[in-house]
Amino acid sequence: MAQENATHHYLMTLLFIIIFFLSMSSCGYGVGVNWGTMATHQLPPKNVVKMLQENGFDKLKLFDADEWVMAALLGTDIEVMLAIPNNMLEEISKDPKVADSWVYENVTSYLYPGGLNIKYIAVGNEPFLKEYNGTYLMYTLPALKNIQTSLNNAGLGSSIKATVPFNADAYYSPDSNLVPSAGDFRPEVRDLTIEIINYLYTNNAPFTVNIYPFLSLYGNDHFPFDFAFFDGNNKPLVDGNLLYTNVFDANLDTLLYALEKAGYPDMHVIIGEVGWPTDGDKNANIQNAKRFNNGLLKHCLSGNGTPKRKGIIDIYLFSLIDENAKSIAPGNFERHWGIFEFDGKPKYELDLKGFQGDEGLVAVEGVKYMEKQWCILDPDISDLHYLAGSIDYACSLSDCTALGYGSSCNGLSLEGNASYAFNMYYQVHNQKDWDCDFSGLAILSDQDPSEKGCQFPVMISHASCLGLHKGFLAFGGVYIFLVFFFTIVDSSKPLPSYDPNSPLLASASANAKARYQFKQK
Ligand SMILES: *[C@@H]1O[C@H](CO)[C@@H](O)[C@H](O)[C@H]1NC(C)=O
Ligand SMILES: *[C@@H]1O[C@H](CO)[C@@H](O)[C@H](O)[C@H]1NC(C)=O
Ligand SMILES: *[C@@H]1O[C@H](CO)[C@@H](O)[C@H](O)[C@H]1NC(C)=O
Repeated sequence: MAQENATHHYLMTLLFIIIFFLSMSSCGYGVGVNWGTMATHQLPPKNVVKMLQENGFDKLKLFDADEWVMAALLGTDIEVMLAIPNNMLEEISKDPKVADSWVYENVTSYLYPGGLNIKYIAVGNEPFLKEYNGTYLMYTLPALKNIQTSLNNAGLGSSIKATVPFNADAYYSPDSNLVPSAGDFRPEVRDLTIEIINYLYTNNAPFTVNIYPFLSLYGNDHFPFDFAFFDGNNKPLVDGNLLYTNVFDANLDTLLYALEKAGYPDMHVIIGEVGWPTDGDKNANIQNAKRFNNGLLKHCLSGNGTPKRKGIIDIYLFSLIDENAKSIAPGNFERHWGIFEFDGKPKYELDLKGFQGDEGLVAVEGVKYMEKQWCILDPDISDLHYLAGSIDYACSLSDCTALGYGSSCNGLSLEGNASYAFNMYYQVHNQKDWDCDFSGLAILSDQDPSEKGCQFPVMISHASCLGLHKGFLAFGGVYIFLVFFFTIVDSSKPLPSYDPNSPLLASASANAKARYQFKQK
């Protein structure tokens, strides 16, 4: 009897291990997406994960080993790239034990049948960005090495690779010869970048880069508009016998030429972030985002590649959901990169298979909202003297990025501005009565003040943790014999609080400031 039981267990374990490795190796050619969580109000992660599966997103990039999000992903075969925030690089670079415990707690403990499918560890996020003034230059390579060594020591080195997401300002073409074939790494970071590339290459790990054609347009009125997209009619850029019809290819090939010059012509490259925002700038709107992202998917999945390199281009869209608590240092658009609204509704049709049909995306289901109640400027107020101060205050503690020039609510009157600001403050602070006062200027209303394209949102109510506990129970019963691999995840983690001055917001906001100053010849 005992013998039979042991054999049975042995077979079951073997079966699970086989399934586990099968799922690990299912290397998706599908589309990935970045899921950032810097929002005042989070959707329940379980519901978001269900939506990801229904829509067929099969790769995910996370900026942090957020326990709540990781727990929601348990048991799915969504392939995960998990990032280590920049502020941990110094510690990890200085002490291999810190890397070991990071890997143990955030990787190894999730790897069991019915656990996570982790494929990459992103060490830092754009650590060489100019705006960081070199803060992370010295820590990045040692941290990368320590993390990969920890992965190797844990026996995971062949299935999980550490990489570093670079900002596209790590390479350039000189003003005197603005063509991709003149591409090289920036002199200030060239040697360090190549050392990192050498380590990645030796280790069979990819080079990861974030590319933003939107930023080519942003603040550069001379940039040929259509060149930012994939279906434009601009005269192509000629580079020797190669023709470029979009800036994405030109940018990526600039990197490929830089890699070639450094001696790595066949380096595997992943696009860690690429996307288009829908508000907060005159070029950030739904029409342009839809045009860009549909063109991007069709292009990247077609296998045509760039003029320099054929094949499918591996991309992670930026981003999944709008994040209203990100720093707006890069621009007001920074809170509007989502393919989905803050409440999980798709903003436009997007065909993830790249056939460019008008495929509708499925929304996040089961979203709960707060009361249909808005906080607006009292229409009986005639003395508008003190409005400006109150608007500034309300905006500084909420999100008024839709009010600016070229944005969806830019057409509002001064009174409209006040109502918008008061409402945002009131919603973000969870509709507390005392948050709709503003020295007597504001009143509550049950009439939706939204108008032509300008939404006055009602926030979602805070997600409950109920679904999470149920999930744990189900897993607990089945896989007891592997339970020692499993660190119980703390689902009582508090929701992120909203502090616009928090250094975390400032540092983690840094996705994306590459300006590819592309002048057409
Ligand atoms: C695991 O990741 C989380 C989130 O980034 C971090 O706070 C925690 O310190 C990490 N664990 C270890 C042991 O480093
Ligand atoms: C970089 O330097 C500039 C100018 O000295 C400063 O304003 C900025 O805060 C610095 N940024 C960081 C991340 O240290
Ligand atoms: C409303 O606010 C925006 C953003 O601050 C500003 O650009 C606009 O001029 C304001 N409108 C009026 C009528 O004051």
